[in-house]
Amino acid sequence: MKRIAVLVSGGGTNLQALLDTPITGGEISAVISSNPNAYALERAKKAGVPGYVLEKKDFPNYTKALLEKLQELQIDLVVMAGFMTIETKELFEVYENAVINVHPSLIPSFCGAGCYGLHVHEKALAYGVKLSGATVHFVTEECDAGPIILQKAVEVLQDDTPETLQKRIMEQCEWKLLPQAVDLFCQDRLRVEGRQVRILEE
Ligand code: GAR
Repeated sequence: MKRIAVLVSGGGTNLQALLDTPITGGEISAVISSNPNAYALERAKKAGVPGYVLEKKDFPNYTKALLEKLQELQIDLVVMAGFMTIETKELFEVYENAVINVHPSLIPSFCGAGCYGLHVHEKALAYGVKLSGATVHFVTEECDAGPIILQKAVEVLQDDTPETLQKRIMEQCEWKLLPQAVDLFCQDRLRVEGRQVRILEE
């Protein structure tokens, strides 16, 4: 059974989707929040999953502190689910192809440093794209640029606001793709070959 840590900073609806979906060969063993007030911590508590707070201001080297906690908890897979902190290479050296992130756009559009949460949808609407969606990818040193595991698109509607677009992308893309990718990882069905992620048959 693979031990999964979910890293969060806010509302935790993606965490909820993970808690609500059975994962073959994996269990959510910990929720780690960069924000002590994140509602995601309540979700963890309700589900009986231990929650931990690691605030950036408390550690001179945040990645090191996070890595120590992950290793202490014997975590196999790290899932970033609305985790608003960018990590440095020490994490990916230890957890190579074992850190997964969900991003609310079709990468490589509307991503990178400073492009997170509602801002992503504001940028997509300002650009006038007709399709947007979500991407689940392995995390590497370069922000939002790791190998893509799954992507799904939705139509952008004429009268969308950042909030309505965010809601549609969460409901139709993120909450489905993230549990699916985690499930595939825990079944050892993801093979990374350069930038390509191959999904192995069952
Ligand atoms: C989600 O839309 C997630 O894709 C996004 O933040 C939101 C968190 O919501 N993440 C990023 O933008 C990362 N670059 P949640 O806390 O309800 O899961």
